[in-house]
Amino acid sequence: MANIILNPDWQLKESACTTQAAYKNRRIFLKSLGLGTMALATGGFRCSNNAHSASSGELDPDGPLDTIPDDAPRDGYPAARNPDFTVPERPVTDRLVSSSYNNFYEFINQGNLKRVWPHTGAFQAFPWTLEVRGQVERKQTWDLSDLIRSMDLEERIYRFRCVEAWSITVPWTGFPLSKLIERCKPLTRATHVQFTCINRPNQLPGQATAHWYPWPYFEGLRMDEAMNELAFVAVGMYGEPLPKQNGSPLRLVLPWKYGYKGPKAIVRIEFTRKQPKTFWNELQPQEYGFLSNVNPNVPHPRWSQASERFLSRENVEERIPTQIFNGYDRWVSDLYPDEPRTPAGPIIR
Ligand code: MTE
Repeated sequence: MANIILNPDWQLKESACTTQAAYKNRRIFLKSLGLGTMALATGGFRCSNNAHSASSGELDPDGPLDTIPDDAPRDGYPAARNPDFTVPERPVTDRLVSSSYNNFYEFINQGNLKRVWPHTGAFQAFPWTLEVRGQVERKQTWDLSDLIRSMDLEERIYRFRCVEAWSITVPWTGFPLSKLIERCKPLTRATHVQFTCINRPNQLPGQATAHWYPWPYFEGLRMDEAMNELAFVAVGMYGEPLPKQNGSPLRLVLPWKYGYKGPKAIVRIEFTRKQPKTFWNELQPQEYGFLSNVNPNVPHPRWSQASERFLSRENVEERIPTQIFNGYDRWVSDLYPDEPRTPAGPIIR
């Protein structure tokens, strides 16, 4: 690990958004595990306390949207909005902000992490195939453009909450994950589903250089979570196909969970008989659990989750309280009888 360059502003930002006592405790805790350098070097998340444009650079009016692949299918756009999924209490985030302030470690995982789009040039999102494997009636491999054209696309506006305590509101275009799962024909003995993402170091500069990550990115859900009405496969946003930095050609959106549970650029869906491993849990199990539901009562070990920075436009952000399940309680609360409803530990505000 000696040749790994640590992001020099890491400690400043981490300490800036955490009480000093909590920050010191974490250093002691990591030291006791012998994890100090390792956890920092793997570039785990950090609570981002800065104005979003300050860390992403000035917003370029063209660049972030020029990354929408020319060959993405556009049939069915703009899709009709589903009136059951809107966010009346917040403005929709400006699309330039949603496409300029990202997390996509395959493209960049050191330095100015949020400025992803300039690193996407070599990535070819189409043609794309999606494999279905594991506990299914029959293994299948689909051409994604054909699959998208065969689905009824709809638009849903969802709140989106990152574990780093920033949030946005996004109109996604896509279809319910349950519709895709029905086509996969899983066997009744499948209890979970794992999603595996792209593995192409020749097109992904972050994947090519950061060998300490367990590429490719992988995530998982219980079957009842995956079949929930909210679980959505996004192939577009803001009435157009997804830009590369937002997960082209397809990604999951699970609005009641932290953003890292939504894998981008998925190549394989595998149905399993036990809980699958997940990328961030493998790297930092003490910080990232399997469920990872948005919950203001459960602080991250390094920062509070009680509130979030809502990003609406460049340089415009508001500190707002975080809601349990990100405000989607009525859809998902039955799935999680054990989710803490009162503060589960000292909350750092
Ligand atoms: N999927 C892949 N393949 N690689 C990633 O690094 N980052 C996750 C998630 N999905 C990630 C990923 C994280 S941490 C977040 S917050 C969201 O994507 C960010 O999505 P956005 O950049 O479109 O807002």
